Amino acid sequence: MTTEIKTVVELTTARLLLRPLQTGDAEDLYNYRSDRNINRYQGWIPESLEEAERFIMERVSPVINVNGTWFQFAVVLKATGKIIGDIGLHFFDNENRQVELGCTLAGYYQGKGYAAEALSQVISYLFSTLDKHRLIAVIDPENLRSINLFERLGFRREAHFRKCRNLNGTWVDDMVFALLREETTLVRDND
Ligand SMILES: CC(C)(COP(=O)(O)OP(=O)(O)OC[C@H]1O[C@@H](n2cnc3c(N)ncnc32)[C@H](O)[C@@H]1OP(=O)(O)O)[C@@H](O)C(=O)NCCC(=O)NCCS
Repeated sequence: MTTEIKTVVELTTARLLLRPLQTGDAEDLYNYRSDRNINRYQGWIPESLEEAERFIMERVSPVINVNGTWFQFAVVLKATGKIIGDIGLHFFDNENRQVELGCTLAGYYQGKGYAAEALSQVISYLFSTLDKHRLIAVIDPENLRSINLFERLGFRREAHFRKCRNLNGTWVDDMVFALLREETTLVRDND
């Protein structure tokens, strides 16, 4: 029997709902993504609400698991229904067995365990339901909160590229962290 993979995906955790980011979320996205201090390691910082709308319409795939695209989960706090951040999934591998992950939380919601809670569920879904082989995160070596987050989730440091990316006119380093399916307990049986 073949298992049909749903293209509209919702995941839940104890405190969070993860659902596809939609154009109606542009204002929330703009509010936390436009904070230049919190997002200083990010390649994309929206200058306006219109730019946030265009980002969702033009750069985010409406369906998950399409090779060569980014899909974006909105991270919603169940208790309030408010969007507190997003998780990006880049399906970058020709065989579609590898995914790059990125996570952003609004400043007020950092330091409360929400990112690890959301990502654990996403990682479990990617390995168990979408049968991925390897996940990566590409992180600026100065972004210690992000490094701590991915190392807590079991990712290994794999590579350090020197001055490989031009971030707003400055050449910055990137580190690659990776997690193989066989390295984690976040794989559910019988899925
Ligand atoms: C990267 C980022 C998502 C990490 O967020 P975070 O809040 O540090 O990560 P978590 O939500 O897992 O929270 C972990 C912290 O919450 C604390 N915490 C509090 N309550 C907790 C709970 N109930 N469960 C687990 N941890 C809890 C942990 O002790 C930890 O604290 P510490 O940072 O002092 O060690 C966040 O810093 C961010 O959005 N940065 C800007 C965007 C960015 O640069 N993204 C990286 C792109 S790859």
